[in-house]
Amino acid sequence: EKGNYRHFMQKEIFEQPTVVAQTLSSYLRREDVSVALPQFDFDLSAIRRLTIVACGTSYYAGLVAKYWFEKFARVPVDIDVASEFRYRDPVLEEGGLALFISQSGETADTLAALRHCKENGQIIAVVVNVPTSSMAREADLLLPTHAGPEIGVASTKAFTCQLAVLAALAAHMAVKKGRLTREEEREVVTHLLEAPAALNEALNHDDDIAAMAPLFSQTRDVLYLGRGQDYPLALEGALKLKEISYIHAEGYASGEMKHGPIALIDDDVPVVVIAPSGPLFEKTVSNMEEVRARGGKVVLISDAAGIKQAGEGCLATIEMPVVHPLIAPLVYAIPVQLLAYHVAVVKGTDVDQPRNLAKSVTVE
Ligand code: F6R
Repeated sequence: EKGNYRHFMQKEIFEQPTVVAQTLSSYLRREDVSVALPQFDFDLSAIRRLTIVACGTSYYAGLVAKYWFEKFARVPVDIDVASEFRYRDPVLEEGGLALFISQSGETADTLAALRHCKENGQIIAVVVNVPTSSMAREADLLLPTHAGPEIGVASTKAFTCQLAVLAALAAHMAVKKGRLTREEEREVVTHLLEAPAALNEALNHDDDIAAMAPLFSQTRDVLYLGRGQDYPLALEGALKLKEISYIHAEGYASGEMKHGPIALIDDDVPVVVIAPSGPLFEKTVSNMEEVRARGGKVVLISDAAGIKQAGEGCLATIEMPVVHPLIAPLVYAIPVQLLAYHVAVVKGTDVDQPRNLAKSVTVE
């Protein structure tokens, strides 16, 4: 079932161009270059507030989507991990939209949060990979990802498919709210349709990333930095590395470094910087300088322009294709997944079944 792959996780990483294309094809109409959602019977344009709840990697997909919902639809977003959400007695206005993101559709905390929202007058939208799951059954708006079965415990293809659906939903909501013109909608759809090819290009760096994995095998800690919509990818990169290689890793918003974690930096701590070139890049470069000035070793994941500007003096660089910012989080997910994967392989851990973890967490 693994075909030519050594692990399910590796197979699932490489399936991403195909499954993201599959997922997008059910949300984007090529004929008129528009977004199309499944049927539902509430008015998306009337939604004034969005609450997003999920766990783990699915929560990080939600963090990326928060940027999109706010940027495109100008709708305020409240987001929390499911295990915290219910216990803070969240303020839920009647008729608000609550969005749950889950690969399995069975995660106990997320399901309990969904039921809490339902009891409190929220409309329930669910982005889920298992269409027969509990969450799918309880949704008012069911938005399936078409990633196919995910067997590796570490979530990979479900994440990028969640991002694809969430981008389509954010764009559609923006259209309904009159925040995106028809022309802008076309642009968004066009960029989303470019994602599968860009994911393929990112996967071409597999060998380079495998070659740098031994640099990490002896380290105790790794920091991941990103900002804006790439900050959640720093969190995701750190989570992937922790869970399968057992190396301690933390994700930080680049600008937060100097508020504490910079004290950790010495020449034993690699710092992975996730930074496509763009308006915020200058700032990220100065954060990198702060790291380097303290002997920190930077691994820069950027595009050609970013690497040209800031690649010198890095321990290593990973060059991503030049992509529109909207699809950057999908594309930059690939190198952080591959890095975690190859480090785990070098360390000889059980990649598909890491210790202490279960694929579906059905206890609260
Ligand atoms: C990380 C991972 C977990 C899950 C989390 C939520 O690689 O797989 O963090 O993302 O347990 O699971 P779902 O998405 O099934 O609700």
